[in-house]
Amino acid sequence: MSLVDQQNAIGVFDSGVGGISTLRTLTRMLPHEDFIFYGDSANAPYGEKSASRVYDLTRAAVDHLREHHVKAVVIACNTATSAAKPELMKLYTDLPFLGIEPATKQAVDSGKKNILVMATPLTLSLDKFHQQEERFGSSANIYPLPCPRLAELIEKGPAGLPEIRSYLKGLLSSARKSWKQPLDAAVLGCTHYPFISDIIAEQLGSSVELFTGYEGLGRNLKRQLANHGLLRAAGSSHGASHTQSVEFMSSKNTADELALYRRLFEYGFSD
Ligand code: DGL
Repeated sequence: MSLVDQQNAIGVFDSGVGGISTLRTLTRMLPHEDFIFYGDSANAPYGEKSASRVYDLTRAAVDHLREHHVKAVVIACNTATSAAKPELMKLYTDLPFLGIEPATKQAVDSGKKNILVMATPLTLSLDKFHQQEERFGSSANIYPLPCPRLAELIEKGPAGLPEIRSYLKGLLSSARKSWKQPLDAAVLGCTHYPFISDIIAEQLGSSVELFTGYEGLGRNLKRQLANHGLLRAAGSSHGASHTQSVEFMSSKNTADELALYRRLFEYGFSD
């Protein structure tokens, strides 16, 4: 079997559990594909590290996935995409290589005018986001909201919920003062945040639509696989119908951590 084979799995990577929220959408949108998820929970959070440290960690994680012969890599981490993807794409030209970025464009394209962008401090300090501000700032008011510590709290899973609630209440009530107009959209620019979208929605109110960009990422992944001749067709496994496999790996390689990954994949933060 060649290293890049249509039958191989798609590798999905995040600093920790966040990318599992992305994985849930990707596995639904590409039901004939197998997936390997790798979370670097031993090193999470990335969002308060330097860009060069995040680059090194991301490169090591991508190498780890490549050792498992993935046919495509999805960086399901806004922070790692912003800090590492442009450079890594130059190194890995042999397979589809995708990353997630804050879904500001999707919010603007759907006519939103007052957009909160919640993300890690590192994501909001890097060029990718500054380019978004430049590109969309004339069509909408863009309010960046760095959320230090939030990904770290979400790493604890549902056990962190009481702390997450009070953290968000404090953060949003002080941020509110800087919004010139009432918000109509919030971009969840960190893949950890969709796990707590109910709490964010509760705090922001029902008139604020939340954006993740996951469907766009899924469509792009499908397109790139097809362009490389790597899209797996229904029933392509020796003619038999194929049951999707989803494998989990973590740098925090404990039974508890892997059980948390599987639980979040199956149920999210709900009981
Ligand atoms: N889930 C990651 C993101 O999308 C980062 C969280 C972190 O490790 O700080 O930005």
